[in-house]
Formats: sequence, structure tokens, C-alpha cells
Amino acid sequence: MIRAVLTGTGSALPARRVSNAELAERVDTTDEWIVERTGIRFRHIAGEGETTATLARDAAVAAIAAAGVTPQDIDLIVLATATPDNTFPATATKVQAMLGINDCVAFDVAAVCSGFLYAVQVADSMIRAGAHRRALVIGAETFSRLLDWEDRTTCVLFGDGAGAIVLEARDSADDNADPAARGILATRLHADGRHNELLYVDGGPSTTGTVGKLRMKGREVFRHAVINLAAVMEEALVAAGLPIEAVDWVVPHQANARILDATARKLSLPAEKVVMTVDQHANTSAASVPLALDQAVRDGRIQPGHIVVLEAMGGGFTWGAAVVRF
Ligand code: COA
Repeated sequence: MIRAVLTGTGSALPARRVSNAELAERVDTTDEWIVERTGIRFRHIAGEGETTATLARDAAVAAIAAAGVTPQDIDLIVLATATPDNTFPATATKVQAMLGINDCVAFDVAAVCSGFLYAVQVADSMIRAGAHRRALVIGAETFSRLLDWEDRTTCVLFGDGAGAIVLEARDSADDNADPAARGILATRLHADGRHNELLYVDGGPSTTGTVGKLRMKGREVFRHAVINLAAVMEEALVAAGLPIEAVDWVVPHQANARILDATARKLSLPAEKVVMTVDQHANTSAASVPLALDQAVRDGRIQPGHIVVLEAMGGGFTWGAAVVRF
């Protein structure tokens, strides 16, 4: 059967790295509070000339090189973001132009922090349907530009960055238990719009005519995150027909180290199997999963044949998980 096989990863971060101590000079907070409540130590903040599209392009270039293909080989770009360069056109088409690809399908997906999981399922479905052979799936954000820098309860939590993967149509074994079954084995997505008001941006083109600022009821989001993430990971593994013991790595959305620990405990997953980058990147929304994935691939933790579970939850609420064999 045809499956979408992950053949390359890449990521990009803004040049400027900001410590908790530096933030504490601007807002009423401390390094101790941020580390204890979230595990975050640093975040990267986009500077002049750095945008969601430029970060996405840099991540895409790295992923394309890692896959050993050229930009002209890409026939689909799906870009997940809640911080597009412009309301329109889709940032995916800006990245397409920057890469010099003159004709392919390119569009954005908006599912906030789970946007990358949504984009993966969309690209996987389009590849398995035979419509496309080589997709670039990108998560890219500049959340620093949506933050209320007077609100200490949110501004310390987020950062900017981008991650990308190349998915290619390949012949693969049918049976997921067979090591020759490579690529995306199963995906599961959810949304529950009743929780819109727990995490949202208070502006938009059709309401205020402004960009708006991020607003969040952190404690309630936390509670839902642990329950939903553990459930959707279990669901995706059942769909893949694999037991939790088969998992080599979990690459979670990097919102808060305590959410990652609590979710792993709920599933009886050893903490050593969870890729953690929240200390270095903070919450980069749709970029966080592909950023962490690229790090674990490049430092050699994720190896060919490994079973990797990707998961995320974000505003909406939206949440999802994907099971991949490398
Ligand atoms: N520095 C110092 N104190 C802060 C602070 C900061 N940056 N932010 C909040 N506080 C204070 C609060 O004002 C509150 O003070 P009070 O008790 O006097 O009212 C106290 O710290 C505790 O706040 P609370 O919100 O209960 O803390 P918490 O333990 O729930 O941690 C979060 C807050 C935001 C870190 C946590 O709820 C969280 O991570 N939630 C999930 C967020 C998330 O993942 N969002 C993205 C999903 S995509």
C-alpha cells in the first residue's frame, strides 16, 4: 500500500534568545516562578526581518536537504500557523515563492497549537489518496507578536520558531506490526469549540479589524490538556494496532513541562521516552512538535525503525496525535 513516509526534518529559530531573567526586567515575574511552574528557561523572539514565512522557509530548506530532494520535487505545501505574515495570502504561498516553486498546491491550516497535527493528517490523506507524491508540512509561528507584554500570566510562556518535515509517497507493508510498514501509521484529531473562550486572541479581521492579543485561562487549559492528550495518544495507538510498549519516543507539544510529565504518568510512559525542548524554546504553538522532532532526529535519538508518537493540543480546543514509524 501507499503510505506517507517521513524522509526529512528541519527547523529554524530566531537569532535572539531571551532568558527568564531578561523577561523579569520587563514584567513582574522571576526565573524561579517560570521554571517551577512551566520548566521554561529560554525562548527565541523574532527580530526585524524575521517573520513566520522566513522562519518557515529556513525550516523547509533544512527539511528538503535532509530528505535529499529539491524544492521542485515538492508538489504540496501545508503550513500550520496562527500568526500568518498577512491575513491573506496564505503564508504557505509566500514560502512557496521563497523556495522558487512555481506550481504546487499550497495552503495554511489554522488549528493553533495542534495545527501541525492537523496539517500532517491533511497531507497524509492527500498522499494516500494518490493526489500528491511529495509534501512539505510546516509549523511556523511568531507568537511574540500576539502577546500582551503587560500580562505576566501569558507573555512568559511563548516563543517563536518553525519546524518542517517532508512526507513522500512510498510503497509500504500493510500490517503495522511489520517493521517494513513505514511512515504515518495512524492519526486522530479532535475539536471542541465549547472551549473557545479559554484560549483565544481578542481581535481579528471580521470582528475588531485589529490583530488582537492572546488571552488564556491557564489553569483550565492545563486540566483539559492532560486528559485530552493522554486520551488521543491511546486512541491513535489503538488505531495503529500498537501497544504503548511499542513506542520508542513521544514528541509532544511543548507547552509546559508539568503537562508533559503528568501526561506521561497517566499513560505509564517512562519520562526518558518523552522529547522535551520546552526549557529551550517555550511554547512555539504549531512549530513546537516539528521543532522538537527535528532536534531528536538530528541528535540521533530517533533512529530508522523507531515508533514515534506526535501529539498536541491548543486553542479551540483542538487536539490530535499521530503514530509514525521512521
Ligand atoms: N510570574 C509570577 N507569578 C505569576 C506569573 C508569572 N509569570 N503568572 C502568574 N503568576 C501568579 C498568579 O497571579 C497567581 O497569583 P495569586 O495566587 O496571587 O493569584 C499565581 O501565580 C498562581 O497562578 P496560577 O495561574 O494558578 O498558576 P499555575 O500553577 O496554574 O500556572 C500556568 C500557570 C499558565 C503556567 C499553567 O496554568 C499552565 O501552564 N497552563 C497551561 C497553559 C498552556 O499550556 N497553554 C497552551 C496550551 S496550547
